[in-house]
Amino acid sequence: MAEISLIAAISSNWVIGNKGKLPWHIEEDLKYFHNKTNGKYVIVGGNTFRNTSRKIWEDKKVLILSNDKKLDLPVFNIQRFDSAYVLREYLNKINEEVFVVGGEQLYKLFLPYAKNIYLTTVFAVVEGDARFPFFDTRKWIRSMNIQGQGKNPKYSFNKFVRNA
Ligand SMILES: NC(=O)c1ccc[n+]([C@@H]2O[C@H](COP(=O)([O-])OP(=O)(O)OC[C@H]3O[C@@H](n4cnc5c(N)ncnc54)[C@H](OP(=O)(O)O)[C@@H]3O)[C@@H](O)[C@H]2O)c1
Repeated sequence: MAEISLIAAISSNWVIGNKGKLPWHIEEDLKYFHNKTNGKYVIVGGNTFRNTSRKIWEDKKVLILSNDKKLDLPVFNIQRFDSAYVLREYLNKINEEVFVVGGEQLYKLFLPYAKNIYLTTVFAVVEGDARFPFFDTRKWIRSMNIQGQGKNPKYSFNKFVRNA
């Protein structure tokens, strides 16, 4: 059975996106994201997939949750699921860490099943229309907290592990 990990960057007011895009450009965080997920299974929602460059997905095993048949690309590393139930059945057969990479709907859907949350905290209040779902930090143990190099905005890399 897959170990589910959420990976996201969130602002101080829990924003993750605005009008389909990230509200910031943090090169170190993009590198961190790729280092964590390259070669791995990632689960992505239709909106996030449509709004990102195909290049991002080249080095990953991509599982898209979407009803959009146009996303059935003839590329070997991409599979589309139109049912969360069928996707979860598929995950039951995978024995490795699988990263849920957004967006808002997908984080909400998979938070109850997550063992780990890799959270880049961006120390800024930003406007946005997509948010990370609330999770009670008392029920999770923060096992990593590393300050990022950038200053404007400042950010830190965190890992939360579910306190079962
Ligand atoms: N800060 C971060 O780390 C981060 C990471 C990723 C994304 N984001 C941001 O998040 C925002 C997008 O979030 P979002 O909530 O709009 O979109 P999303 O979660 O990426 O995708 C939602 C889509 O997933 C599909 N879907 C969801 N539940 C489904 C189900 N049960 N069965 C079948 N399909 C299902 C549908 O796709 P179809 O409409 O195709 O059927 C739905 O429209 C953007 O602003 C993006 O920049 C931020």
